[in-house]
Amino acid sequence: MKAIVWTKYGPPDVLQLQDVEKPIPKNNEILIKIHATTVTAGDSELRRLKLPLMLSFPMRLYVGLTKPTRITILGQELAGEVEEVGKDVELFKKGDQVFGTTGFGFGAYAEYISLPGDPNDVQGTLAIKPSNMTYQEAAAVPTAGFEALHYLRLANIQRGQKVLVFGAGGSIGTFSVQLAKYYGAEVTGVDSTGKMEMLRSIGADYVIDYTQEDFTKNGQTYDVIIDVVGKRLFSRRLKSLKENGYYFLANAGLSHLILKIWISLTSSKKVIIAAASQKREDLIYLKELIESGKLKTVIDRSYPLEEIPEAHRYVETGQKKGNVVILIEHNN
Ligand SMILES: NC(=O)c1ccc[n+]([C@@H]2O[C@H](COP(=O)([O-])OP(=O)(O)OC[C@H]3O[C@@H](n4cnc5c(N)ncnc54)[C@H](OP(=O)(O)O)[C@@H]3O)[C@@H](O)[C@H]2O)c1
Repeated sequence: MKAIVWTKYGPPDVLQLQDVEKPIPKNNEILIKIHATTVTAGDSELRRLKLPLMLSFPMRLYVGLTKPTRITILGQELAGEVEEVGKDVELFKKGDQVFGTTGFGFGAYAEYISLPGDPNDVQGTLAIKPSNMTYQEAAAVPTAGFEALHYLRLANIQRGQKVLVFGAGGSIGTFSVQLAKYYGAEVTGVDSTGKMEMLRSIGADYVIDYTQEDFTKNGQTYDVIIDVVGKRLFSRRLKSLKENGYYFLANAGLSHLILKIWISLTSSKKVIIAAASQKREDLIYLKELIESGKLKTVIDRSYPLEEIPEAHRYVETGQKKGNVVILIEHNN
């Protein structure tokens, strides 16, 4: 089968189209014919190992010290069709259209993947694809959807509360805006000029173009801030959070960790650096929201499998609106 192999840590060219062995499912596994996968900001950070120090060393130990050896195919999200079912699998049958994540095994940049029929948190998770979504739309839901759901649940979001999403126009951001609206919050999305209209179209009550306006100077305070950008000036942004409010950091570095401890000792504001776990029941919950029209995927561009390096280059420009998806064509 064809796959995009991760040959080294480095620029997008380290991702190369190769013929590799088609996986054979074990008794507890299903073989999925992948129709769509995604290229996320996280994929491109992992490809280069451009991660915060506290993550890059453990990741290098796990993936391979000098080059990727344990994990040689990237891709964490997929949608596809069950082609074969191991004899011990009960949850899925041949022909099911599924979507989900591959967990720490990655491997979705390929025509096929074998995954446990009842995966756990580390192995990712799978569910039947929402009936009103294409494979491409469904593939982009899980990881960012889990993250957004996780934040809003931890904050115990209440109707009428004010939520600000900093970096609202990307993967986590677009799901955060829609979910916060679903829970009845008043939502402000902050991103660059080209994303303002899209943010309004998915329900943001207010939009702020960060190239024109610094939201930390507008006198407003928020119950929840979801910050997927990180970077500098975190302590200034924290001033826009109400007392007892929640500040979520999707992209935290060591300095954020230190500040988090200091803030917990000196104020009632809660800074949370937490990645969501990948639970099947949450995937099913997201599927139900999608099927009832409450949540949709924003897709910017779509590329074929062989152009995944190009897709990585585009994701690295930071210009993508919502998600970049990969459509995998099969000849049979
Ligand atoms: N996706 C996941 O499931 C997941 C899970 C855990 C952690 N993370 C981490 O969370 C981070 C964000 O992930 P993502 O997938 O949402 O990324 P993304 O799709 O690239 O979204 C980031 C958004 O932030 C905007 N942005 C950049 N600089 C900004 C600034 N100064 N002010 C306001 N907005 C700004 C970008 O737009 P412009 O470039 O146009 O400004 C973009 O729309 C990544 O570091 C990722 O590793 C992701």
